[in-house]
Amino acid sequence: MPAPETVLSVRDLAVRFGRSGVRAVDGVSFDLGTERLGIVGESGSGKSTLGRAIMRLLPNAAHVEATTLDFDGKPLLTRPEREMRTLRGNRMALIMQDPRYSLNPVLSVGKQVAEAALLHAKIGKKDAYAKAAEMLARVRIADVERVMGLYPHQISGGMGQRVMIAMMLLAKPRLVVADEPTSALDVSVRGDVLNLLDDLVRENNSGLMLISHDIRMVAAFCQRILVMYKGRVVETLTKLDEAQHPYTRGLIASMPDPRNPVRRLQTLDRRAIDAMEART
Ligand SMILES: Nc1ncnc2c1ncn2[C@@H]1O[C@H](COP(=O)(O)OP(=O)(O)OP(=O)(O)O)[C@@H](O)[C@H]1O
Ligand SMILES: [Mg+2]
Repeated sequence: MPAPETVLSVRDLAVRFGRSGVRAVDGVSFDLGTERLGIVGESGSGKSTLGRAIMRLLPNAAHVEATTLDFDGKPLLTRPEREMRTLRGNRMALIMQDPRYSLNPVLSVGKQVAEAALLHAKIGKKDAYAKAAEMLARVRIADVERVMGLYPHQISGGMGQRVMIAMMLLAKPRLVVADEPTSALDVSVRGDVLNLLDDLVRENNSGLMLISHDIRMVAAFCQRILVMYKGRVVETLTKLDEAQHPYTRGLIASMPDPRNPVRRLQTLDRRAIDAMEART
């Protein structure tokens, strides 16, 4: 039996695209508690595919297998899509890079957040609008009245992430998968959005999977980091200086360190990485 605080239990998760396709995710195993877990790796290493497999949001062409994929102690892979839809709106949430694709384009921001309030709190329509305004103020949206009347295409990416987080503060998800939630944002608002995400998961005792190629950002924000390479987890870290694998070290060296600027960033030494992988 998993401990009661286990949000997600994953064993030997594999995802193949098409019949003979390569494995985008290849034998991934981990447990997620009420913690902040980072998933890092180079482009194409399978981070998003892993997150989407857990949300059951991959296209039909994807073959997903696992010996265990349990959410809140219950298997996910065998659930009917109808149940998954309910789960995704309530117990599990996905935050994507561009929030404007996650929001409903034909509903004003105010209406969308009010609908979330109606759905998750036993209140009437008028109170739902008041609640929506309160939540938008909580995620530090200035000028709430005006923003509530705007449509998703009229708001900035940073504002969109705040709106998404406001809706999740109402839904109180147990699992939050955030896939590059700050990559499309201006550097000046990235920290703010991460702090709000932190408030969200702490307040609800949720488990967070933070997916990013930015290993330094993830290390600063998460308690544990899974490093992915070609669909596999090659290393699990709690601190960057524990990194042993040449791939992980390469990832660290290829991201700029604001405290230690260099004129040229390193690129990955693929020969050393593949030699290391061949031994395991
Ligand atoms: N719908 C799809 N059909 C076919 N192959 C796919 C599909 N989605 C992803 N892949 C393949 O799976 C592998 C992993 O892709 P994935 O998007 O998970 O990587 P990622 O780590 O999220 O990369 P990035 O940092 O660029 O977002 C890649 O080789 C990709 O081409
Ligand atoms: Mg991705």
